[in-house]
Amino acid sequence: MTEAEGKNADCALVVFGGAGDLTRRLLLPALLNLAAEGRLPEHFALVGFARTDLDDEAFRERLDTAVKEHGRKDLDPALWAALRPRVRWVRGNFDEPEAYERLAKTLSEVHAGPGSGACDLFYLACPPRFFADVATRLGAAGLAREGDGRSRRLVVEKPLGRDLASARELNQHLLEVFDEHQVFRIDHYLGKETVQNILAFRFANGIFEPIWNRRYVDSVQITVSETLGVEGRGDYYDRAGALRDMVPNHLFQVLTLIAMEPPSSLDAGAVRDEKGKVLRSIPTWSREQVSAMAVRAQYRDGRLASGREAPGYVEEPSIDPASRTETYAALRLKIDSWRWAGVPFYLRTGKRLKARRSEVVVRFRRAPLQLFRDTPVSGLASNQLVLRLQPREGIALRFEVKRPGLEMKLGRVDMDFCYSEYFGQTATTGYETLLRDAMRGDATLFQRADNVEEGWRVVQPVLDAWGAARDDAVATYPAGSQGPNEAEALLAREGRHWNPIE
Ligand code: BG6
Repeated sequence: MTEAEGKNADCALVVFGGAGDLTRRLLLPALLNLAAEGRLPEHFALVGFARTDLDDEAFRERLDTAVKEHGRKDLDPALWAALRPRVRWVRGNFDEPEAYERLAKTLSEVHAGPGSGACDLFYLACPPRFFADVATRLGAAGLAREGDGRSRRLVVEKPLGRDLASARELNQHLLEVFDEHQVFRIDHYLGKETVQNILAFRFANGIFEPIWNRRYVDSVQITVSETLGVEGRGDYYDRAGALRDMVPNHLFQVLTLIAMEPPSSLDAGAVRDEKGKVLRSIPTWSREQVSAMAVRAQYRDGRLASGREAPGYVEEPSIDPASRTETYAALRLKIDSWRWAGVPFYLRTGKRLKARRSEVVVRFRRAPLQLFRDTPVSGLASNQLVLRLQPREGIALRFEVKRPGLEMKLGRVDMDFCYSEYFGQTATTGYETLLRDAMRGDATLFQRADNVEEGWRVVQPVLDAWGAARDDAVATYPAGSQGPNEAEALLAREGRHWNPIE
């Protein structure tokens, strides 16, 4: 255990909405994985808080089932047996002051002692409409106060607002009670190894950084395509749509890691400063620019790659049949910086597409054709670096080679690195690193208030324009396809095309 971990060897994770799906499906398996690796603090306690009528033992029994269903197959039963007695339940409404008093009492019981070094981690796994209220009540109960070596942290996860104004309001509420250094805003994309690797790949290698700029890069594509539909989340999704759901958060995390300048250290402040600069270099769009640079579309019925027929979005359960919510969004962004001026960044994300694929494609400028003018070669393809975030996690470098034979003919080949071949399969949920970092107080992989707001600032003109055009017909694409033709046209106008989603 490192020095920093040692300091926080006494930690209570309080989950608001503890009886919900997130605890069962994600938090608990992640905690067990951490326990298996000996990475949980020595005195660790898990406290569930919600109005569900449970007590300590009933909550533990629920988790017994979750461990069976969602825990790793190779789980050592001793790990859960050791953790189980340190699981507690506090029953109460999120707006009930007495419940917070009961929580304070439970916390004083679960900590190893009153001494310094203890940490309370308040994880809001409750619906976002309660975020501000829970923070206020924690403050009123004295549970936001740090001192005598005790740390107190608040962990929240998207949606962090639904536009710039509500994101600002939420930040204000949270920061009235907690200091920024206590607030840990999760973006689960930052829990992914391949996303964390972008920083390592760019800055731990000497060969890429010199060409990582407008002199060598033609364009960048960031794709997060899913085969899933709304999967029972219609109520939330129909009010959110693809843009809000994915772009200012997950896609912008990837974008900023790809485009940022080298930070002065891996310190949270240094990394987040650089990410913020990228977002601040994206100009605010006018209404006309939105129509030219943003595409929205909705899936209609179609055939999935599996051969199954899938219904259209508006035929899905709990979706308004007249809904115009987009299930696909594509944007062409520019970053007005010395490094990137003139290089388009194309972003797209959508549900019910042909394949599940999250990747970044960095296309380099083409070599001049001149040398090949008297050969059968009629054009040169651009070299590409493809960072496969998921699935088939890895990195490929694409370049041209001479095809074996008597004539000068070229063929495109891949030099391919695949994570699982090198490192084997690792069973992680992505939440292990995030939870452990939050326990240790390392905020590098979490979002800072100003950056969250800056992300919303970038997409706000699109939300405004699409919101104002609610009666306009929305473009569609068949389920199981590459997405709408309009997105192809966005690139075709500039002589480029998307890499196929396969
Ligand atoms: C969530 C979105 O944040 O991310 C979902 O709300 C989406 O709609 C999911 O499906 C994608 O995450 P992943 O890790 O499966 O790429």
